[in-house]
Amino acid sequence: MNECENSLVNNIQEIIYSKEQIQKKVEDLGNQISKDYQNKNPIFIGVLKGVFIFMADLIRNVDICSQVDFMAISSYSGQGEQPSEVKLVKDLDVSIRNRHVIFVEDVIDTGLSLHFLLKILRDRSPQSLEVCVLFDKPAHRLIDIPIRYRGFELPDRFVVGYGMDHKEKFRNLNCIGLLKAEKIHSS
Ligand code: IMP
Ligand code: MG
Repeated sequence: MNECENSLVNNIQEIIYSKEQIQKKVEDLGNQISKDYQNKNPIFIGVLKGVFIFMADLIRNVDICSQVDFMAISSYSGQGEQPSEVKLVKDLDVSIRNRHVIFVEDVIDTGLSLHFLLKILRDRSPQSLEVCVLFDKPAHRLIDIPIRYRGFELPDRFVVGYGMDHKEKFRNLNCIGLLKAEKIHSS
């Protein structure tokens, strides 16, 4: 067993969604988007860093002309605490005026980050704005967000993998796992 496998064995309590389940779901989402956006040349917008793996897989499952851009915010501590404030730390490189925008997120929890970002995007007059979320954690939702494309529902637990981190670790897991409770508050 190498160091990485050992680290997973030591830190992950349970695998919630396997690599195969995630890949199938991302393929389905990509197919649906391809159908809905024929001839519309949408732009995919993601929030760094958690979304980078989902975005990379999603756009490779979309077979229509499209572009990609990213924003970054500071909000979540990565320790399962609720954000008190959301701040934009990287803006888009391009204008979205009159564009069809698909906002892509890895996970929606309280909905605060999405709410903050969607307001910024709406103010820039896109032609349309829809949300695509791979993982939905409905238990702590504070703001209702209309989600056009939804992958999986997640329990009210802190998960890692497929881009999602705990203190910047575990993003490279190709499945989604529950972090062992004792690891959430450890360094
Ligand atoms: P929200 O503003 O509460 O909806 O939080 C959304 C953001 O919190 C996501 O984009 C993630 O970065 C982070 N997040 C929420 N739940 C988890 C989790 O279980 N593991 C890792 N990151 C999470
Ligand atoms: Mg995210």
